[in-house]
Amino acid sequence: MSATLGFISMFWCIMLFPMLHAVILDTESKSSSSPIANLTLNPRKLKLTWDSSVTVTEYSCSMHVGLHMAKKTVYNKTCMFNTELAQPIHKGALFQVQAMYNHTSYSAEVRFIPQGMNGTSVENFSCVIYNISFMNCTWKAGRNAPEDTKYFLFLKYPKEDEQECPHYIRDALGRHIACSFQDVKDIKEKVYFLVNGSSNELEIQFYDEYIDLYKIEKLTPPSNITVNCSEEQLQCTVQWKQPHLSHLEGNAAECFEYQIEIRNNANSEESSTESHTVTRRSYTFQNYNGEKKYTLQIRAKGDTCRISENWGEWSEPIEFGNPDDTVLTATIVLLLIALGTILVALVIFFLCKRYCSLKKLFSPVPQPKNKFDELFQLSDKNIQRECMDLPPTKYETEEITTVEEIK
Ligand SMILES: *[C@@H]1O[C@H](CO)[C@@H](O)[C@H](O)[C@H]1NC(C)=O
Ligand SMILES: *[C@@H]1O[C@H](CO)[C@@H](O)[C@H](O)[C@H]1NC(C)=O
Ligand SMILES: *[C@@H]1O[C@H](CO)[C@@H](O)[C@H](O)[C@H]1NC(C)=O
Ligand SMILES: *[C@@H]1O[C@H](CO)[C@@H](O)[C@H](O)[C@H]1NC(C)=O
Ligand SMILES: *[C@@H]1O[C@H](CO)[C@@H](O)[C@H](O)[C@H]1NC(C)=O
Ligand SMILES: *[C@@H]1O[C@H](CO)[C@@H](O)[C@H](O)[C@H]1NC(C)=O
Ligand SMILES: *[C@@H]1O[C@H](CO)[C@@H](O)[C@H](O)[C@H]1NC(C)=O
Ligand SMILES: *[C@@H]1O[C@H](CO)[C@@H](O)[C@H](O)[C@H]1NC(C)=O
Ligand SMILES: *[C@@H]1O[C@H](CO)[C@@H](O)[C@H](O)[C@H]1NC(C)=O
Ligand SMILES: *[C@@H]1O[C@H](CO)[C@@H](O)[C@H](O)[C@H]1NC(C)=O
Repeated sequence: MSATLGFISMFWCIMLFPMLHAVILDTESKSSSSPIANLTLNPRKLKLTWDSSVTVTEYSCSMHVGLHMAKKTVYNKTCMFNTELAQPIHKGALFQVQAMYNHTSYSAEVRFIPQGMNGTSVENFSCVIYNISFMNCTWKAGRNAPEDTKYFLFLKYPKEDEQECPHYIRDALGRHIACSFQDVKDIKEKVYFLVNGSSNELEIQFYDEYIDLYKIEKLTPPSNITVNCSEEQLQCTVQWKQPHLSHLEGNAAECFEYQIEIRNNANSEESSTESHTVTRRSYTFQNYNGEKKYTLQIRAKGDTCRISENWGEWSEPIEFGNPDDTVLTATIVLLLIALGTILVALVIFFLCKRYCSLKKLFSPVPQPKNKFDELFQLSDKNIQRECMDLPPTKYETEEITTVEEIK
């Protein structure tokens, strides 16, 4: 009886999917006869469909990419790998369907082989989301890609149609090498990115990737930073608000880590920087010296909560402490220079005094005179050089003061 059901043997099925430039091969059959037949793959949707010559209630389908395997159990003759299970297929993939019938396991498989010349697909593809809803994607043309290659970027949210890049950025040859989006939404989602291309010379391979959007977000800086210093306690309390996020509802207070960097930039040689990582939204800065000027910056990253674990943007520098600090040191430097000049002048004066008497004694001898003339000239030069150093220093100081006043 069962023999009459006629287990149909596997057959080759070669299909060309122009959208993905791929050859799909229905390959090796594990048994000479299998109830699973006509296995086909839609690579765009990662959807398998097949026929069965016998009634089987449960199938198991799997997708293999490199060492990665995703498996699913279905109760009819279709199987689709959703974004959560899927892997990129630009390097090829193997799909399998298995079923148990009459205590025997049967399977059929189909292999996806991307077409096109090796080395023509894009390389170093990467995207970054910034300022909450902006996204830039960049890539390099493949090494074997002809000069006339034109790449196109598509992205697809789960359960939505794919959308093309709204704004390409071109290189000198006019090739698309980057793309910018202005209204990225649903940063919680995992999104499918596809870059395909066309050329008159060669068939271009495509590149694809699944990206958890939140992982590529560059967080905005912490906002509303305040610094409250106490001269008596020699410490400052720094407080801030968490970065703005597009996708986090409710209280996300526990979700961040902050890095706070405080530079003591009294002068460039003695400047020191200290850096601390905290999880609270405040920090107490010890060893505060009211005479000094400090600059502070903070950045954030996600700790848990599906927030990017890469450091975000630094906040704008905030200055606190003594704003006159740099002016003070500059004044001291000026005073020292002035003192030095006076000293030199005095030395010259006394030398001259002694000399002039010598000069009177040995007036016919010209040599010493010349020497001292030289000495004079040299000193003058030195003084001049010092004087020339002065105006820029003074100018800088003035500029800094003006900036302070405006703030
Ligand atoms: C099940 O397999 C056995 C042999 O393993 C065979 O005798 C029998 O006819 C098969 N039954 C069906 C329904 O195919
Ligand atoms: C496979 O497809 C062919 C033609 O599309 C059809 O004739 C055949 O019955 C199918 N096989 C099964 C087991 O349904
Ligand atoms: C197969 O079953 C799934 C649910 O398990 C259903 O969503 C799908 O529409 C079914 N497909 C067909 C072709 O009946
Ligand atoms: C492309 O590279 C793959 C391995 O990465 C190799 O198996 C295949 O034969 C190459 N194809 C061509 C046309 O060189
Ligand atoms: C891609 O990046 C790697 C490492 O950063 C680099 O070695 C390689 O040359 C880059 N590829 C292209 C086409 O620029
Ligand atoms: C962020 O985007 C908003 C518009 O959404 C714009 O007004 C603002 O200038 C941008 N900020 C930065 C730092 O780029
Ligand atoms: C994104 O691309 C635009 C346009 O090329 C550029 O002005 C901007 O600096 C880029 N931003 C980031 C964060 O890469
Ligand atoms: C690239 O993919 C898109 C979306 O699947 C498709 O519409 C387009 O025809 C493809 N272009 C090339 C050159 O393959
Ligand atoms: C930040 O400060 C401004 C005024 O300084 C205030 O209007 C705003 O509500 C504050 N933002 C937050 C998140 O507290
Ligand atoms: C700064 O801290 C002191 C106590 O340390 C407090 O009395 C004062 O109100 C604070 N000032 C601001 C602006 O928060």
